[in-house]
Amino acid sequence: MARILIEGGHLLEGTVRVSGAKNAVLPILAASLLAAEGVSHIEEVPHLLDVENMANTIHALGADVEWQDSSVTINAENINSVTPPYDLVRRMRASFVVAGPLLTRFGEAVIALPGGCNIGPRPVDLHIKGLEALGATSIVENGFVRLKAPTGGLRGSRIYLDIPSVGATQNIMMAAVLAKGQTIIENAAKEPENVDLANYLNAMGARVRGAGTDIIRIDGVDVMHGATHSVIPDRIEAGTFLVAGAVMGNGVYVENTVSQHIMSLIAKLEEAGATIEDRVDGIKVWPCEGRRMRPLDVKTHYYPSYPTDMQAQMVAALCVAQGTSTVTETVFENRFMHVAELQRMGASIHIEGRTAVIDGIERLSGARVTSTDLRAGAALVIAGLIAEGETEVHGLHHLDRGYDNLVGKFQSLGARIARFEDEEEVAGAAGASAGA
Ligand code: EPU
Repeated sequence: MARILIEGGHLLEGTVRVSGAKNAVLPILAASLLAAEGVSHIEEVPHLLDVENMANTIHALGADVEWQDSSVTINAENINSVTPPYDLVRRMRASFVVAGPLLTRFGEAVIALPGGCNIGPRPVDLHIKGLEALGATSIVENGFVRLKAPTGGLRGSRIYLDIPSVGATQNIMMAAVLAKGQTIIENAAKEPENVDLANYLNAMGARVRGAGTDIIRIDGVDVMHGATHSVIPDRIEAGTFLVAGAVMGNGVYVENTVSQHIMSLIAKLEEAGATIEDRVDGIKVWPCEGRRMRPLDVKTHYYPSYPTDMQAQMVAALCVAQGTSTVTETVFENRFMHVAELQRMGASIHIEGRTAVIDGIERLSGARVTSTDLRAGAALVIAGLIAEGETEVHGLHHLDRGYDNLVGKFQSLGARIARFEDEEEVAGAAGASAGA
């Protein structure tokens, strides 16, 4: 069983480079299905399980997909299926975003409905409602949703999203680029990843305006072609290193980071006492006094508010804050599974409804813990870096979905952290192998 071992208490120092954004590259790979002619080159593609899954999904539909280091070349001229394999879709909810491109280009898409997941039920009703507003019909049978466009194709429409859902905005935007006439998405998600997707769509020949605001206007075009695009840096990976640097750092430069994408996090880190230096290509963080944050009140919400994907990492850091903090999760229903694991490391946290109340203690103690989702895994790694003694993190497939070489990057900052794939190698290894 794979695990990460961490010997806590060692300071982080130096430079770490952030990879391309997972949550931008996933819809961008799906959008490549829209190109009836030409080839797409996507650069700054992170090496992640989820990205591999999405690449395999579009390949299974008939696209040629070639990797070279951090670039992917896609030719989607000869797509021969509108049904991505169940096994691939089942592994990753984000694969549902192939629905929009397939439906609009081929008039049909048959996609397995994603089930619940560890952070909540996560329905796709808004995706389907939006596609129906463009004229599609939908039938759910045997766990699949079959979407069909009317004769003559999808038609532009005005769509108000009840929630500014990131995925629904992406699916509707991608379907609308080839619809007849204008589509207006109101209360659209404003996340930078959606702006990146819109930029890629426009490079492919689409006419999308207003991405990054509440209202996106899309004028349908007749045909889309391949394009070259470089993916934006991953703001959540950057944020993970910044939080770690604020409590365990001795000057950490997080390179390839756009500070505007994480203003809410930067504001909270400054409020906690960290010093943030915004440079041309990244952010340098200096630690809070005594490497313990001042207590904070944090509430997750849609962009540009504090991101839910940075909630768990902040909870980990606040476990050793100089007082009592509150962290309220408003986006997902069940995103506090890391709390029980942090309690095993000595954290003093109790949950009141959607709020975690965290009484800062002086130190955590290393323990064997298991991650339950991607960001919970990152939180446990941060907790392990802070803790006294050795921490063993299990459930690594979650981390592999969304962090490109997390262990190697923390090692390069001087952390005593190592990954082991099987039982024999483990004994006493964190100090020995990772340690200088
Ligand atoms: N929702 C609905 N109906 C829908 C769609 C969403 O009720 O049809 C609800 C969800 O259940 C949730 C809320 O709306 O409570 C927000 O969901 P959203 O659709 O915005 O999220 P998503 O598209 O499923 C993306 C990211 C998540 C990130 C959220 C919020 C990708 C691949 N995933 O998910 O990333 O937490 O936006 O910012 O882009 C992660 O990277 O760890 C991760 C979970």
